[in-house]
Amino acid sequence: MTALSVLKCIECGHEHQIDEPVYVCSRCSGLLDVVHDLERLRPSISRETFDGRLRQVEAPYNSGVWRFKELVFPAVADDQIVTRGEGNTTLYRAPAKLAAWVGSRALSLKHEGENPTGSFKDRGMTGGVTHAKLVGATSALCASTGNTSASMASYCALADLQALVFFPYGNIAAGKLAQSVAYGALNVQVRGDFDACLELVRQASRQLGIYLLNSVNPFRLEGQKTIAFEILQQRRWRVPDWIVLPGGNLGNTSAFGKGLSELYTLGIIDRLPRIAVIQAEGAAPFYQSYREGFATRHQSKAQTLATAIKIGNPASYFKARRTLSLTDGVVESVTDQEILDAKAMVDTSGIGCEPASAASVAGIRKLIAAGVIGADQEVVGVLTGHVLKDPEIIMHYHQGTLAGIQSSFANQLRTIDPTLSDVQSLLSRSHAPSAL
Ligand code: F0G
Repeated sequence: MTALSVLKCIECGHEHQIDEPVYVCSRCSGLLDVVHDLERLRPSISRETFDGRLRQVEAPYNSGVWRFKELVFPAVADDQIVTRGEGNTTLYRAPAKLAAWVGSRALSLKHEGENPTGSFKDRGMTGGVTHAKLVGATSALCASTGNTSASMASYCALADLQALVFFPYGNIAAGKLAQSVAYGALNVQVRGDFDACLELVRQASRQLGIYLLNSVNPFRLEGQKTIAFEILQQRRWRVPDWIVLPGGNLGNTSAFGKGLSELYTLGIIDRLPRIAVIQAEGAAPFYQSYREGFATRHQSKAQTLATAIKIGNPASYFKARRTLSLTDGVVESVTDQEILDAKAMVDTSGIGCEPASAASVAGIRKLIAAGVIGADQEVVGVLTGHVLKDPEIIMHYHQGTLAGIQSSFANQLRTIDPTLSDVQSLLSRSHAPSAL
C-alpha cells in the first residue's frame, strides 16, 4: 500500500519518502510539503472526531496539535510522539478598551504565548522532534531569534537529543536565551545576523548530517498549522473573515495556507478566511515583494526592535506567496513605534505579549484605518509569544529609554520611603485609586 504521506517539492513535484531526513528537494532545492493522502484519510476526519478529543486527558490526544493527528502525521504510532501537551491556547475576545483602540467591533486574539515554552514554536517542534526520532537522529540544530531555540532545546531534552543552536550575536531577548541555556542546549553566538545563522545551519546540516529544525523542515509546519485549526474549532468551525499574524521567516504564513486548504478540501470548513501578514518596517522584504506584485524576491538587512522577526531573507517565501494567493491575502508593514504602542495596549489589557506578536495588533489597526479590514468583520489576531520573553524591552519602554521611541503609554516604577505619608502623597499625585 502507498504511504499515507509523502514529501513533495512545491517547485518540481518530485517526491521523497517521509523517513528520509531531507528538508529541501534533492533535485531542485525547492521547499517540500508533507502531502497527506486526503482521500484515504477522509473517512477518519470529521469535526466530531476532532471535537471528541477535547475531552481527552492523556497524551498525545490532549495536545492541541495531536488532536488533529490525521492531518499532522497520520502514520506515526501514538507512543512515538514527543509531546508536551502543546496548544490548547486561549482565544480571547479582545477587552473593550483594546478593541476600541484597534477600531474593531469583532476582534479576538489567539494567544500562542500560552504554549509550554511560551511561543507557537512548540506546535512545530512536537512534529519536528517526533520526526527526528523516527529517522534516528541523535542531535538537532537550528538558527534562531530565540523562540525556536527555546522550544527546540526543551523538546530535544525531552527526547534525549543533543540540541545545537546558532544565535545572531547580541540580538536575543533575555527570556529566550535563558530558556535555551536552562534546557541544556549547546548555545553558540554567531557573529552575523539571523540570515547568516540560517545559511550556516543549512551547510552544517548538509555537511555534518545534523537534523535541521528550522521551519524549512516541513514537519514543523504540519504542527504549526494547528494554530488555525484550533482557532476554527474554538469558533465552533465558524470561519472568521480575517486571520492576522506577524511574518518573519514566514513559516506560520505558509503553514496556515496549507492547513486551511486541507480543511476546505475535506469540507470541514465551507470557505477560507483572508490572511494578513504583518512585517516590521525595517524587516519587510515580503511586504516589498507584495507591493510589487511579487515581481522580485526582495532581501534586506533587517532592523527592528521586535527581534523575533528581525529577518531579511524569509526562508518560506514561496510557500507564503502560495498562502496569499489561496486566501486573497494581504501584507502590511508597521513601524517599531506602532508595534510598541500596540504591545503596551495588549499588555495593559491584561493579556500581554512579546513585541513581534504585537505586530499583529498594530497591523489590524492599520488595516482597519485604511478600510481594508472592516470594523465589523470578524478578525483573529495571533499573538505568537509570551510577555515574559522580552522583559528588557518592557522596562526600557516604560522608563522612556528606547532611542527613537515615544513611550506613549508609560507606566513608571515609583520609589518611596516606608512611610504612610509617602504612600498618601503618591496616591494624591497619581491616578491610582484613593481607596484600596
Ligand atoms: N513571532 C514570534 C514570537 C517569533 O518568534 C517568530 C519567529 C515570528 C513571530 C515569525 O514567525 O518565522 O513563522 O514568520 N521566530 C523564529 C525564531 C525566527 O527563531 O524563533 P515566522
